[in-house]
This record gives sequence, structure tokens and C-alpha cells, in this order.
Amino acid sequence: MMNKDKLEVLYDEKTIAERVSALGEKITKDYADKDLLVIAILKGSFMFFSDLLKKIDLPLEIDFMAARSYGDSTHPGEVHIIKDLDKPIEGRHILIIEDILDTGQTLHALYKMLEVRGAASLKTCAFLDKPARRTVDFYADYKGYEIPDYFVVGYGLDYAEKYRNLPYIAVLKNVD
Ligand code: IMP
Ligand code: MG
Repeated sequence: MMNKDKLEVLYDEKTIAERVSALGEKITKDYADKDLLVIAILKGSFMFFSDLLKKIDLPLEIDFMAARSYGDSTHPGEVHIIKDLDKPIEGRHILIIEDILDTGQTLHALYKMLEVRGAASLKTCAFLDKPARRTVDFYADYKGYEIPDYFVVGYGLDYAEKYRNLPYIAVLKNVD
């Protein structure tokens, strides 16, 4: 099949940089007196994570986690960890970074898995949020933008593993 994907820029590089800076400043203030461990959920958050962390002026630590969602109608939001954290998080102040909150199932499930590990605090930050699509009562503590029910790519987000390298967020249209 021919590639008929059509991209329409939603947030350009400069707009994203400004929003990410503001988020970084807010997080810097909120965690000023805390020992922060920031966790990237792979793969989608890698670009946001990298940019955001450059804007957090704190002596933080990082770790990575990867999950796969096997959601279907009978087992919605069944999430499996395919790469776990390197170290325990007990007693640590944790901020989880995700690319997008869609139904909310993935981040909600990961949150519950980490909650039982005894962190001192556990918060979440999603670059994008599609509240109209939510199927679980879960909301991020920090977010970049709320968007309508669009399928978006770029800035880490993929369609069939493509487009993650785009420096902007685009709405993907006309997919065959
Ligand atoms: P949720 O579990 O439904 O919240 O979905 C979360 C995951 O679905 C994200 O981490 C993305 O990998 C993927 N996803 C949801 N919406 C989009 C989108 O618009 N573009 C690309 N990936 C998306
Ligand atoms: Mg994905």
C-alpha cells in the first residue's frame, strides 16, 4: 500500500520548547527541597523526557521503564512491564514521565504497580492529554497540552513505530 499519511502540524518546535520550559520551572519549584527520581516510560516519552530534564534545575536522578499494553474488550488495559526500573523506589520522590494519556489505562496500571513499592511520593507528568478518550478515572499531575480526540505523531509519539523523530507534534490524517 502506498503511504498516504498526511501530517498537519499541531505544535511546532518553538511552541513545544516554551511549554516544556514552563513545565520544567514548575517542577523545579515543586521539588526544590526534595530528592527527585524521574522515570521515563519508553519509548514514547524519550524526547519529552530529555527536553524536560534540561529545564529542571535540580540534582535529580533518572530511570527507565517500558511497558506493553495488551488491552482488548475482555481485558482492557492489561499492562505488562517489559523493562523494569534498575533500583527500588522505596522512600523516593518519584515523577513518572509519559508521552500521552489517552484512555488512561497504561499510566493508571503503571501507577498502581509502582504505588505498592513504597515511594515517598508518586506523581505523573504527561506531555499530551486526550481527556475525551478517558476510560479510567486517572489524571496527570503535570501536563503539556490537552488535545481533542486526534491521533498525533512526532516528538516521540509513533504510528506503527514511525514518526518518533519529528521535532514537532502533528495530527496524522488519511491513513490507509
Ligand atoms: P492509554 O493507555 O490509552 O492511555 O494509551 C497510552 C499509549 O497509547 C501511549 O503511551 C501511546 O503509546 C499510545 N497512544 C495513545 N494515543 C496516541 C496518539 O494519538 N498517537 C500515538 N500514540 C498514542
Ligand atoms: Mg505507542
